[in-house]
Amino acid sequence: MSYVSIVGTGSYVPTKVVTNNDLEKIVDTNDEWIKTRTGIHTRRMSEGENTSDLALKAAEEALKDADMSGEDIDLIIVATVTQDTFTPSVACIVQSKIGANKATCFDITAGCTGFVYALNIAKQFLETGKCKNALVIGAEVLSKVTNWEDRNTCVLFGDGSGAAVLRAGEQEGIISTYTGSKGDENRYLEIKAVQVNNPFMQEISNNNPSLIKMNGKEIFKFATKIIRKSLKNVIEDTGYSLDDVKYIVPHQANHRIIEHVAHKTNMDIDRYYMNIDKYGNTSSASIAIALDEMNKKGLLEKNDKVILVGFGGGLTWGSIFINWVK
Ligand code: COA
Repeated sequence: MSYVSIVGTGSYVPTKVVTNNDLEKIVDTNDEWIKTRTGIHTRRMSEGENTSDLALKAAEEALKDADMSGEDIDLIIVATVTQDTFTPSVACIVQSKIGANKATCFDITAGCTGFVYALNIAKQFLETGKCKNALVIGAEVLSKVTNWEDRNTCVLFGDGSGAAVLRAGEQEGIISTYTGSKGDENRYLEIKAVQVNNPFMQEISNNNPSLIKMNGKEIFKFATKIIRKSLKNVIEDTGYSLDDVKYIVPHQANHRIIEHVAHKTNMDIDRYYMNIDKYGNTSSASIAIALDEMNKKGLLEKNDKVILVGFGGGLTWGSIFINWVK
């Protein structure tokens, strides 16, 4: 069995900045409500770029950071809930653009936990020796599935992408992973796909649009509990304590969720990395963007311990305990 480590990161967000004041012109909301209830000041919106365009830019940066090219990559996994097309996968589109000709490529959907799930899957491929270098991407254009008439949700989301290059080798980077799902609570967060509709049905169905529907209060309660459970799980598995961990990198959904968890875990809020003020909730991309930002800012030093923790639609959740080796 090989060890697996993160050897490069990248990210990309569209250039269009949408402020809370911009949203006041679309729905009955205001800057004060959004800032105090969510911590979001701005988010980025695609002006035409699709999910694979965002994924590609993050991937190119991550490859550069890892000092690799597409030819070195033998596995590409994209976590997303906003694929360009049902087929081909976003991963296959990225493959063709970076020339990763020997890679196996597929997308996964695990709501906002997607990046954590995808890292976990890639780790298994690398550990067993099946692959040597993997590109893991979280990318979303949520603006195309946002209900722009629903003030409860449209103020929360943004577009963006982040990527990490993983390598199998001697250095133990990803020390522990934990994932879970609870399908019987799937109703709290939904984006419908194409409805069943064919000429052999008794009744032709109404094609409801594919837009985000969420019960914010239920998700809030779920998030504050499941983040703690996910942290506890990898902490117990590794034998380290939370005191050994330099940063927690949580999914960026609401600053109040993160503050609540920081309080419950008796940790200084500064050890929970946050950039939700700038980007809002970018689903599968949020943890990947945050990790890349931390890498670029030089916040991570060799052998720092970091926990990535996600939660989201499905319902899904998960955590990854990392020893930073870059
Ligand atoms: N602007 C102004 N008022 C708004 C508003 C907006 N954008 N959205 C909702 N409101 C109103 C509500 O209509 C409600 O008014 P009422 O009391 O007259 O009915 C009031 O604000 C309070 O709404 P409530 O839903 O209780 O707010 P909240 O404090 O629970 O915050 C969320 C709402 C969505 C921000 C919060 O529940 C949340 O973040 N949940 C988790 C969501 C999440 O993490 N999703 C991603 C999972 S991956």
